[in-house]
Parts: sequence; structure tokens; C-alpha cells
Amino acid sequence: MKTNDQVLDLSVDLQKEAYDWKKDIIINKVKFIEEVDKALKDKEVTSLRKKVYFISTVVNYPKNDDIGLRNIGTNGDTVVLKKGSLLEELNQIQEAQTIERARYYLERLKKGITEIKTSKINDINLNRWKEYTEILTDSLWILDKRDDSGAHCAGYWGNFIPQIPHQLMMRYTKKGELVVDTFLGSGTTLIECKRLGRNGIGIELNPEVTRNADQLIKKESNPHDVKTEIITADSRHVDLKEILDKQGVKKVQLIIMHPPYHDIIRFSRSPNDLSNAGTVEEFIKMFCDVVDNTTPYLDMGRYLGIVIGDKYSKSEWIPLGFYIMNEILKRGFLLKSIIVKNFEETRGKRNQKELWRYRALVGGFYIFKHEYILLFKKG
Ligand SMILES: C[S@@+](CC[C@H](N)C(=O)[O-])C[C@H]1O[C@@H](n2cnc3c(N)ncnc32)[C@H](O)[C@@H]1O
Repeated sequence: MKTNDQVLDLSVDLQKEAYDWKKDIIINKVKFIEEVDKALKDKEVTSLRKKVYFISTVVNYPKNDDIGLRNIGTNGDTVVLKKGSLLEELNQIQEAQTIERARYYLERLKKGITEIKTSKINDINLNRWKEYTEILTDSLWILDKRDDSGAHCAGYWGNFIPQIPHQLMMRYTKKGELVVDTFLGSGTTLIECKRLGRNGIGIELNPEVTRNADQLIKKESNPHDVKTEIITADSRHVDLKEILDKQGVKKVQLIIMHPPYHDIIRFSRSPNDLSNAGTVEEFIKMFCDVVDNTTPYLDMGRYLGIVIGDKYSKSEWIPLGFYIMNEILKRGFLLKSIIVKNFEETRGKRNQKELWRYRALVGGFYIFKHEYILLFKKG
């Protein structure tokens, strides 16, 4: 646990962060703590509740603010809070039946504002965990709408939706850390790196694809001044040590792998392309070569996220995801989660929906509607 001035940094960072001013409010931290301390001194629960009610009205109606709780002009000591969570906490205090309970909730609120408690692998302030409503914690991800804001676009056939690297970086990296994507494709991970303030290295085999990715990534603004580097190479043999040496670092803090799902989509004619592996066994071997070549540079205790789907061949379901999972387990990684994510039809299948339904009924199988995000911890 650490207590520091990061809360104050929020005021400095206001320009950089994507705050939603319908949901977020800026509070004068000093004034707020003063009001909380006054309430904490109360001996009677009713009187404490009244003081907390007063704070709620100021949060709801800034015009009632005659104590400067929302006065951010005169004092830079501010904190940005989620209005909904704050009101929920204030309500909980007002509903407390005993002075002990009310004080307990109030102390917790104060701690959430004055102290930051983060783990070693991300910046989530555990003292204000309720505010992180956008962070997923369930193993079933139904993500209907693709984030198509900024430089993100759905143009590259076989790309993943930006919410995947977004979620992984929020959970498994801190600002300023380094993320490697070994199958960069259209650059989704590096665009997300720029948004979230993580440095990124993307490796992609196809030079035409890297050129396009480079253009897209350049379109995205870089408010956190991070470094994103694209390497055109075969991830099985790329010299990651040399790349890291040039950046003056030894290790990376998150590796994301979104390989071809064997030959479902052929990405190029290159024999080095995993989508051209002759057999499933060859595909697994090529994928494992990427794992063995890059994961030695992953910091201990850090995460490898693999996004993979299964395939169907000769009337048989081929569980690529599970084959790969077993290979990673053999290498001593700890399985932390198998996330199942909904998967929309590929363009080809979309046009033949009826036909696929018929085939499924005849063939005794189910049509793919999901893919996996396998999460492993090195350690
Ligand atoms: C499923 S796509 C990744 C899409 C990416 N996540 C995105 O959002 O655009 C897989 C990518 O791996 C690349 N690829 C295939 N074999 C490779 C290899 N040996 N080394 C590096 N990249 C490879 C393909 O060219 C393709 O762009």
C-alpha cells in the first residue's frame, strides 16, 4: 500500500485524462476533508447524518456551495471523483443506524480520498474500487459495440476490438510500463497504449500491414508522451533483447498475443505466417516458438494474454484455444482466467447465416459465437 500525492496529480493531469464531466466532479480536497472531520467529531448519529446530508446537497447542487467544497479555483488541491459512487457512499452514511457504523463508512470515504492503495501490477486505487465501473471482472465478456473512436477502425479483417487490449492494460499494467503485442496487425494495441499512457512495441510479419498500422497509430494523439514502436519481423525469431536494449530496458510488463486462428483467415502467402501452417500441430509449434522467443522478457509476476478462437475442420471441432493453453501450462505459467468473449460472424459467414444454420442442424455442431482470452501469470 502507498500513500502519496497521486490524487493531487489528478488535477495536473486533467487535460490528459478523458474525464466525463456528466459523471465526474472535482472536489476541493482540503475543504472536503474538513467537512468530513467535522462530521466525524459528532457524538450523535442524527447530527452526523445532517452534516453528511449537507455535503450531498453540495455535490448535487453546486449552487448550495457556500463553504467552497467545489471551489477549485483558489486551491489546486483537488480530487476528481465519480459523482454516482460518491453520492452512494454519502447515502450509505446517512442510512447508518449507529454512530459507530456511520463513522466507519465516513472514515472509509476519507481514506478513499486521502490515500491511494494500488497493487504492484496496475494503477487501480483499491480504496475507490467502486468507481472503476468500466473494468470487467466477470469471465464472460459480451461486448456488442466496437470502440471506433479516434484512430480505431474496423478495417483490418481479423483485428480484435480495442476493448480487449484496453481491459488487459487497465488490469495488468501501470502507466509508463511497457506492453508487447507479437501479432500487431492493424495496430489496435499500440493505439490503446497511446490512450492509456503505456509504452508499446508491436511486431508484425507483413510489411504492408505494418505500414498501414503505422499510419493509423500516428493519427492517434499522444497525450501521455509514450513511445510506440512497430517492428516488421517474424515474432518467432525477432531479437526482442536487442529492441529492449535500444530502449534501455530489460523486461516488459505485459505481452498480448492475438495470433491467426490457424487458417481461418489467411493473412498472407508467407510460409512464416502462422495462418499458413500446414497442420494444426505445425500451427501450435509455430505459436509456441513465438511464446518461447518472447516470454523470457516478461517480468516475473506479470501477465501474458492470449486471444484465440477454435476452428472447425472435416466435421470436427478443433480446440485451438485449449491446445495452446496446455502448451503454456507446460511452460510453468499459472492460469489466471479463461475469459469467453462473444464473437460476431466473420464477414463471409454473415452473408451466409441461413446456410450455416442449416449446416449446423445437419452436421450436429454449433456455430462459433465465442473466442477466448487466456490469462497467464509468469511466476
Ligand atoms: C489476428 S491478426 C492480429 C490482429 C490485431 N490484434 C489487430 O487488432 O489488428 C494476426 C496477425 O499476425 C500476423 N502474423 C502471422 N504470423 C506472424 C509471425 N510469424 N510473426 C508476426 N506476425 C505474424 C498476421 O499478419 C496478422 O496481421
